[in-house]
Amino acid sequence: MREENNKQTILDEINGAIRWHLLNGAVDLELFDLLSSWTTAEEVAAVKHLDAAKAALFLDALTACGYVDKFAGRYINTLPAQQYLNSTSELYQGSVFRRMSALRLRGLDQLPELLRGGDVAALRLEAEAIWARASEHLIAFQKSIAAPLLARLDALGRMADVKRVLDLGCGPGHLGLSVKDVYPHVALTLLDLPAVMEKTRDYAAHHTADGTITFTAGNYNRDDLGGDYDLVIAARSLYYAEDLQRLMAKLFAAMRPGGVLLCVHEGLYNERTAPADVVISRIGVALRGSDVSLERGAQEQAMQRAGFRIDALHNDNSLGGNSDLVVGVRP
Ligand SMILES: C[S@@+](CC[C@H](N)C(=O)[O-])C[C@H]1O[C@@H](n2cnc3c(N)ncnc32)[C@H](O)[C@@H]1O
Repeated sequence: MREENNKQTILDEINGAIRWHLLNGAVDLELFDLLSSWTTAEEVAAVKHLDAAKAALFLDALTACGYVDKFAGRYINTLPAQQYLNSTSELYQGSVFRRMSALRLRGLDQLPELLRGGDVAALRLEAEAIWARASEHLIAFQKSIAAPLLARLDALGRMADVKRVLDLGCGPGHLGLSVKDVYPHVALTLLDLPAVMEKTRDYAAHHTADGTITFTAGNYNRDDLGGDYDLVIAARSLYYAEDLQRLMAKLFAAMRPGGVLLCVHEGLYNERTAPADVVISRIGVALRGSDVSLERGAQEQAMQRAGFRIDALHNDNSLGGNSDLVVGVRP
């Protein structure tokens, strides 16, 4: 029997819910917008029409959570809060937090009903309308992982030879467009389902990337992917493959010899009970009908069977949560 959970752990679980409420409240109140410089609770209370004593209690608790620093009665954002929770920041994640909260928490307050098979807010993540609606939040999410992804690409030391890039299941396309920003010589293809691709076109029109961009509205299970790619990025998009093996073979055929396939997906292990953060964050979505997470090894196995050589395999926390980053090369 495992022993790491004890009475204190059980009581501490309540703090997880309290921390979520504190952060959710602060995001709703746009409190972090007021804390770019040292500010008193009275000043925050005056701007937001709050009770000053309660505002101080709230700010003290946010300080305990690590989102705010307090010194001599004044408060200021910590670096993550300033970067990700201040709505004027380019990397603002408040909308992602709200959207992910709604997605992950929905139905969990009716757990017995869910477990009995009741139709509590059923969710089909393969439905394209969901991703079209998610486009705006995905832009913010993709902005937060573009720099680490570009760093990984740079580390491969091959980008000078890359001429054609496919961002498969690109969502709004910010990741592919970021590659094009840094390597303007590449011809970029953005591929996603038709309703999503409309949003992608809109976003790309406002993006600074110039030159060749191809917008492919299609379903990777059925439609042509294009060809002669030197780099394919598949980030959290392969869950919806009807047959992962067949899709990998299709990608292999769409790439030039020497081409790189970079896949980023969470990988479950220990009989789908780990990593804990992935299992816990996805349980609500899974119970509502979308248990889509890949098993650890699934990406690289399908790649190898399709003929790719695995060049790098890395468990990575910088690309939007606990993920397995797999780099395959077409020999
Ligand atoms: C979790 S989002 C990931 C988006 C982006 N790659 C990223 O890393 O932020 C999954 C994407 O896969 C797309 N997708 C799902 N099924 C697809 C299919 N059959 N063909 C093409 N794209 C698909 C969705 O529309 C969505 O944009």
